[in-house]
Amino acid sequence: MKIDVLTLFPKMFEGPMGESMIGKAQENGHLEINISNFRDYSANKHHTVDDYPYGGGAGMLLKVQPIYDNLQSIKKSSPDTKKRVVLLDPAGTPFNQKMAEDFAQEEHLVFICGHYEGYDERIRSLVTDEVSIGDYVLTGGELGAMVMIDATVRLLPEVLGNELSAKTDSHSTGLLEHPQYTRPAVFNEMEVPEVLKNGNHKLIERWQLKEALRRTWIRRPDMLESIELTDEMNTLLKE
Ligand code: ADE
Repeated sequence: MKIDVLTLFPKMFEGPMGESMIGKAQENGHLEINISNFRDYSANKHHTVDDYPYGGGAGMLLKVQPIYDNLQSIKKSSPDTKKRVVLLDPAGTPFNQKMAEDFAQEEHLVFICGHYEGYDERIRSLVTDEVSIGDYVLTGGELGAMVMIDATVRLLPEVLGNELSAKTDSHSTGLLEHPQYTRPAVFNEMEVPEVLKNGNHKLIERWQLKEALRRTWIRRPDMLESIELTDEMNTLLKE
């Protein structure tokens, strides 16, 4: 997979994108990340990237030209890849696991990170998606882009060692993940549930599903409305 990021703050990506799974995926050649500074594409002799809004109003807007030219340069250097171009915007569609799964199917993702008060509206005509990482306002799109890259790259089959663990993650099943335990069996008088130690896989699976339902019911009841409950789930919910 190829990922391009357009930002005014390339240094923000230096540490985080070199570590852990994302760093390894790049070392192994499964992932190529290019960070570009769209200020370098400004046609203005002072390299300005923002300007006052027509009609007045508070703050500055990002100009369309530097971003357009940066995107053209990416198209020129990767003419053959199918691109998904994502604009980071707190007013965009909320990012979720389903979107990460869609992004993981793509060949080439391009993230545009904004700053300042907003975008010249014509920037939106250059993108395929406008995405928010949550109902809060960040100083810019960089952290949001990193969140989306992280959630996407870990789903690439070559990247996540244990494929099963992505399929059973909280959110990918439509339920939050059930509680899990590792050794010791007792810690400060807190015990591992008996059922997990008896080796009866049918009972264990039933317990895990019940606890996943319980946790989702308590913490995220909204999630139960968006999945189709199986007969087994309905029985467990009534218990
Ligand atoms: N830029 C500023 N806040 C943002 C958010 N919540 N999501 C995406 N981009 C942003």
